[in-house]
Order: sequence, then structure tokens, then C-alpha cells
Amino acid sequence: MNKNIVCIGAGYIGGPTMAVIAKKNPGRKVVVVDINAERIAAWNSPDFALPIYEPGLEEVVREVRGKNLFFSTDIESAVKECDIVFVGVNTPTKMFGRGAGRASDLQYWEATAREIKNFAECDKIVIEKSTLPVRTAAAMEAILNDHAEHKFTVLSNPEFLAEGTAIKDLLEPDRVLIGGPSTPDGEAAVSELVGIYNGEGGGWVPRERILTTNVWSAELTKLAANAFLAQRVSSINAIAGLCEATGADVDEVARVIGADRRIGPKFLKAGPGFGGSCFKKDVLNLVYLCETFGLHTAAEYWSGVIKMNNHQQERIVSRLLAKMFNTIAGKKIALFGFAFKADTGDTRETPAGTVARLLAEERARLVVTDPKALVNARRDLAGIDGVSYEQDEYKAAEGADAVVVMTDWRHYPSLDWRRIYDSMRKPALVFDTRNCLDAAALEAIGFSVLNIGK
Ligand code: UDX
Ligand code: ADP
Repeated sequence: MNKNIVCIGAGYIGGPTMAVIAKKNPGRKVVVVDINAERIAAWNSPDFALPIYEPGLEEVVREVRGKNLFFSTDIESAVKECDIVFVGVNTPTKMFGRGAGRASDLQYWEATAREIKNFAECDKIVIEKSTLPVRTAAAMEAILNDHAEHKFTVLSNPEFLAEGTAIKDLLEPDRVLIGGPSTPDGEAAVSELVGIYNGEGGGWVPRERILTTNVWSAELTKLAANAFLAQRVSSINAIAGLCEATGADVDEVARVIGADRRIGPKFLKAGPGFGGSCFKKDVLNLVYLCETFGLHTAAEYWSGVIKMNNHQQERIVSRLLAKMFNTIAGKKIALFGFAFKADTGDTRETPAGTVARLLAEERARLVVTDPKALVNARRDLAGIDGVSYEQDEYKAAEGADAVVVMTDWRHYPSLDWRRIYDSMRKPALVFDTRNCLDAAALEAIGFSVLNIGK
């Protein structure tokens, strides 16, 4: 067996994960391949203008690129030369046919499986990194091993990294999950993969943090873990509406709830609702699975998490409208932040996108500002009238009737809010949907202030 690794898919998961695996396994050659030549060119760019922004990523790529980490569009050679194939291609929600709007679209995954099979010249371990519906590994194994000259062992090794903290999450994971079949080949494959995370001459994750299960448990665990996290966000947002109606403060409520060690303090921040590529997709996937197996009440239960999340963005717009005398047509509104959370340029499923579309329907004049996500914002909002883009927050707010903070970028609290106030039309409103600014200080300047859950 050689030690070479290939990862198919150079996206948010494949790129950072392989960079860290290469860094921690200097004895292994790691090749990341993608059909998207532009993306590969960006990973290879001489000035390290990488296709995704992630704190600490550039440093790791600088350390290992060209040594034992390579990016390429030559999928055939890379597959031929390796024994271990990670698959990190996208699995978006299916938008057509059976399960449209809920099930995963597995066409990229299946295309990848067929590529691996066609190009392989030896036995391989194939590892699912993308989040997939339960039993995908079995389907993949069936495709790969049908009349095959070589043997393919499929493992599930779901990735739990969060964007914005990907490198830290990869370097210090709470756990690594490996699902594999309990056959001699399966066990050998699992032990090979354990070695990548925690092996002689390589690896970094303490053995007790590497949890092994059967393949289906691993696949389901990833969906369930994201559904639990999404549900916490929807739960605290459901409490936030009640706080607004009754005069309670959601941050106080969250602090005290979180002090119970059975609940814990994390993921209790009320806000504009969750975004990102995973939560909605994975909860929808879970709903689809429940329905497929006739578990309709469970399906309805998980659907509520999404329903609550959508409602949160509608509520933001209703409250803004009410505060702005029930008309925002022609008024200038500055959206501060478009990324789905701080420290990323990713705008997939961002609540800011929904809010922007709802405000545009009310014919507001929108200005979007974001330190990392303006390119994506332009792409997402293309075709919507009345939207402009501005890198500089002060310019974005000039002449605006309202600033709506959508992303909790770390520098927003330390902006010169007096200067922003002076340049705005009066009455000047700040709607801080992340509760990240000092509301009392803003009110002292003269702003009227809206928060979530207060
Ligand atoms: C998530 C999971 O955390 C990760 O384990 C999985 O692998 C992929 O999905 P990610 O989508 O990158 O990661 O971001 P995360 O930090 O989980 O935030 C998701 C969304 O929830 C963001 O929009 C965030 O703003 C929101 N959120 C999170 C809240 O509104 N309140 C919170 O308390 C926490
Ligand atoms: P994730 O967040 O899961 O990493 P991304 O969309 O960021 O998802 O990345 C997935 C990558 O997989 C994309 O860059 C896409 O071009 C790539 N991809 C999709 N299908 C294939 C394929 N058949 N072969 C190689 N790469 C693929």
C-alpha cells in the first residue's frame, strides 16, 4: 500500500481538511482535485489568493503546498496514484423530481463514484466526507464493487468543522467520527484512517477522541448533530419573540439557561436565524428520511426548526417596517454584513439574503457592506433592483434611514457610531439583529435601536 491520499472536491470541506491532513502527515502525498479549474487555479495562485477565506488557512497552505499538498484538475492521474480517496463534492438539496426541496442531490457523488471506479488500478479505501443521507455508503459500495476489477471499501468520516473556525476545529476536534463495516477489510480500512488522524509518524488527534461506529450510524450522526444545533438556534429564537412581547431580555435568559451544565452555554445566541450550507440542508434531509420511513410526526417536528428559522427573518422585516412608519419604499437601508456569520465570506443560505429580498420587495434602496462577502453578495442578489454594494461602512451608511446589522463582524462595535449617526437621515435607526453593539451607547448618541429578543 502506498500512502497517497486524493481528495475529490476542493471546496470548503476538502480544501482546509486536506491542508491540515497534509501538514500533520508529512510522509503522505495529498492531492486535492476538482472539476472547477478556476477554483484549482486559485488554490495554486502564487500570491495565495485562495478561493475561500478561513482564518489560519493561508498559513497552513503556505507551509505544505508544493511539499506534500497539491491541487490539480487531473482527476484521473490522482486517482490512479492513490490508495485512499476522500470524497468532498457538494451534495446540495435536490431541486427537481422526487424529494425536491428536501432530499440530497446525489448526482455529483454518483459521478464521482463512477470516476473512481473507471480510473482505479488497485484496491482503494473510499471515504465519505460530504454530508450524505443514511445508506449512501451502501449505494456507493454497490456501484463501486459491481463487476469491479478492484476492491473498494467505503467508510463514512463526516466532517464537523464550522466555517470561520475550520483550522482550529480541524487541529483540535472534539471528536473524529469514523464509520466502517465490521468485516476484515472494513476493520483494516478503519485502522488505516485512524492512522491518518493518530498514527506513527503522523496524526494529531488523541485516540480516545476518535469514535468508531457502523457506517449508517456515522451517516445519521452527522445529520442528527447538525439538526440538534439548528434546533437550539430555533429554540432560542422562539424565546426571543416572546421576550420582545413581554419585556424579558433573551441574552439574560440564555445566560441563565446555559449555566445549567446539562444544557451548556454554547449555541444559545438569538439572532437573524441560522444560515450556512449545512443546517437547512441537513434538517431537510432528516425530514425527508423520516417521511420515507413513515415517521410523519418526527418529520413534522424537524420541519418546525426550519419554519421557525424562516419566521425569524420575516419578523425582522416586519419589525423594521413597523418602526419606520410602515413604509420603507424609497428609503435607504444599509445592511451591515452579508456573510451567514462572521469570519467567512460564505453567503450560502445567509439570513441577510432573505432579509435583502424582503426589503427589496418593499422597494427599499439597499446598500450592502461586508468585509469578505461582497463578491458573493453581488452574485446572490443579481437581478434585484435598487441594490448597491460598498466596502466602506461609513460610505454605506451615508444618508441612510436605517442600518441593519446582519453579521456579527468583530469590528462593528468599534466603528465610529457618532460619525455614522451624523451622516444618516433622521430619525436614524439601528436594527442590531446580532445583539453585538452597545445599545445604550447608541441611544445616547441619538439612534433609535432595535434588537432581537429585547
Ligand atoms: C455547522 C456546524 O457547526 C458544523 O459542525 C458542521 O460541520 C457544519 O455546519 P457552520 O454552518 O459553518 O457549521 O456554522 P455554525 O457556527 O454552526 O453556525 C451556523 C449558523 O447558526 C450561523 O448562521 C450562525 O450565525 C447561527 N448561530 C449559531 C446562531 O444564530 N446562534 C448561535 O448561538 C450559534
Ligand atoms: P463543501 O462545502 O461540501 O466543501 P463546496 O461546494 O464548497 O462544498 O465544494 C465542493 C466541490 O466539489 C466544488 O468545488 C465542485 O466543483 C467539486 N465537484 C463536484 N463534483 C465533482 C466531480 N465529479 N469531480 C471533482 N470535483 C467535483
